[in-house]
Amino acid sequence: MRTVLVTGGTSTLGRSICKAFVEIGCEVVCTYAHHKEKAENLQKELGPLLHIEELDVLSPSSVETFFSRLDTLDVLVNNSGVFTLSDQEDLNIEEWEKVFNTNVRGLFLVTQQAIPLLKRSSKGCIVNIASINALHPGFGMTAHYDASKGAVVSYTKSLAAELGPKIRVNAVAPGLLDAPYLHEQGNPVKEMFVQRAVLKQLVSPDSVASCVVFLSTNPAITGEVITVDCGYLVG
Ligand SMILES: NC(=O)c1ccc[n+]([C@@H]2O[C@H](COP(=O)([O-])OP(=O)(O)OC[C@H]3O[C@@H](n4cnc5c(N)ncnc54)[C@H](OP(=O)(O)O)[C@@H]3O)[C@@H](O)[C@H]2O)c1
Repeated sequence: MRTVLVTGGTSTLGRSICKAFVEIGCEVVCTYAHHKEKAENLQKELGPLLHIEELDVLSPSSVETFFSRLDTLDVLVNNSGVFTLSDQEDLNIEEWEKVFNTNVRGLFLVTQQAIPLLKRSSKGCIVNIASINALHPGFGMTAHYDASKGAVVSYTKSLAAELGPKIRVNAVAPGLLDAPYLHEQGNPVKEMFVQRAVLKQLVSPDSVASCVVFLSTNPAITGEVITVDCGYLVG
């Protein structure tokens, strides 16, 4: 039975990823940073294969404490991330650091601790959650977020070269995820995305989760970034 770690496992996407791995019989460690109640609810929903733990990727000591209690790992899904909107002219250093420290430094801290465990696995792999913003920057007010996800993409490729053949490393770049807040009447972001996307819909978190599971099982893929965006980039 594989053990899977999903950081930010209670997020819109994290929940779907946890569910997808539980459904195929994996032990899943779902971490939360601030919302323990959400994690407890997810545990009730998904049952005994789901374990919940606190992990704040901004804190090196939180990451170390978490890994001191983990003795086996086959799949790491770096899903935690933050998104903010701001013109670069108005962006303060704290916001820049929060985005980079969560999306890039935090991913590095978790990955570094996970590598020794993944090396001991016969199926060790990492799936990083990037974004189409890394591949198609310029949505407006997101340059700092786009740059952080661009770093996730290049980190993924370099790490794949460094950690092979023992550990495979890939990324998924989702488009706009279907989330309740987007269903308010006439939401402009939703309208913009759906209008351009070839498939005329938002990206379901479950469709991204199935791609994460696929990357975790296909032994021939490493250093790859798969876009799951309902055809937004080609629209
Ligand atoms: N939403 C989209 O349309 C979209 C599109 C492309 C890519 N993505 C990426 O997909 C991933 C998930 O996005 P989402 O929209 O599902 O997330 P979300 O609902 O906004 O939730 C963010 C997640 O990150 C966790 N997190 C925040 N700060 C953290 C920290 N310091 N340490 C550890 N975890 C932390 C949160 O945990 P707590 O709740 O416990 O704080 C939460 O689980 C992110 O990497 C995001 O950039 C999202």
